[in-house]
Amino acid sequence: MQRLFQKRIIVGIGGGIAAYKSAELVRRLRDLGAEVHVVMTRGAREFITPLTLQALSGNPVHTDLLDPQAEAGMGHIELARWADLVLIAPCTADLMSRLVQGSANDLLTTLVLATDAPIALAPAMNQAMWADSATQTNAEILNQRGFKLLGPSSGIQACGDIGLGRMLEPELLAQNAADLFAHKALTGKHILITAGPTREDIDPVRYITNHSSGKMGFSLAEAAAEAGARVTLVSGPVHLVTPDRVERIDVNSARDMLAACEAAMPCDVLIAAAAVADYRPETSAEKKLKKDPNSADGMTLKLIRNPDILATLAQRADRPFSVGFAAETHNLLEYAACKLRDKNLDLIVANDVANTSIGFNSDENAITVIDREQQQTSFPQTSKSKIARQLIDFIATHIHKV
Ligand code: C5P
Repeated sequence: MQRLFQKRIIVGIGGGIAAYKSAELVRRLRDLGAEVHVVMTRGAREFITPLTLQALSGNPVHTDLLDPQAEAGMGHIELARWADLVLIAPCTADLMSRLVQGSANDLLTTLVLATDAPIALAPAMNQAMWADSATQTNAEILNQRGFKLLGPSSGIQACGDIGLGRMLEPELLAQNAADLFAHKALTGKHILITAGPTREDIDPVRYITNHSSGKMGFSLAEAAAEAGARVTLVSGPVHLVTPDRVERIDVNSARDMLAACEAAMPCDVLIAAAAVADYRPETSAEKKLKKDPNSADGMTLKLIRNPDILATLAQRADRPFSVGFAAETHNLLEYAACKLRDKNLDLIVANDVANTSIGFNSDENAITVIDREQQQTSFPQTSKSKIARQLIDFIATHIHKV
């Protein structure tokens, strides 16, 4: 959550009822580490007082273009140069129209013309005003000129209407602002990730599986999407929410997982975080198996090998940069290095599942990554989401090397 650390953001507030949410937005941006200056239009000041925004931003609020006192402090050109981002929230229909015209008839529109910083707009207005063709055309023009439009979302409006036109919630806007600065190491890359266990049917009601929770694979999918990648996540049965901007394909068996991965190819990077069942019952009964009431004998289940998804994809002519996991209870690094070679991988991530505070089903992990040159890089124990970000950064630097 340090992603706005030392970032300088001008929050421009337009004259709409959603202006009351801008106070919370300023607070959230500062929580993420940003320095904030607020610029209010005359209309905005009818809805919320500059004093509130001054207290929350920790800086004097800028309201007038032609105020000698304010210009003696931080003039409008200085303010325009100071900003790393201008975020206008709420951005009314009138403001959008004035931005399209290139107006400079108040401080906020003048700043927009004067700044080189990226500009994000959070439109907020009545749903009919948003739907009007004039506003839609303006939105399109602004989008083409490189303004980043965040929202609007849909729901109940202050005027009682229901529809598209609500300002995005402050928390989401702050997150979106952070994403605009995020280091996009994987932009343009397609990353395929397997996650979770597989489930191998014995009959319609019984199956063989394992304790994998899928948390590591899902955290990796989230981190890869944050790094700008297009992410396909092929998951066995798990109880996890799909991360934002990730395409998820649910499967059961190892063979289903392989078929889904093959269908998702080509990809630039494959990260095989799934705990795939090595074996499956030779046959899966169509009807529920019944025990013999006249016999106390046990039953024998014949298991056969499942395909190795990672090795299969890493052998293809269009093989992706291939990353495997080695979860071991002993001789960890030795076994991991063998797997790297045997499966023709670029990287292998070794984790010690004998340590119950990390690995399977836990929220934390500690890993050592081994590359083709046998170089080892260790990442100490921390949350799976942090490890995932570190690993995605590591992968991003490695793919640019090969
Ligand atoms: O051989 P082992 O199961 O220990 O290898 C683990 C690595 O191989 C993991 O990355 C796992 O996702 C992948 N794997 C696979 N298909 C299998 C078995 C393992 O993709 N059938």
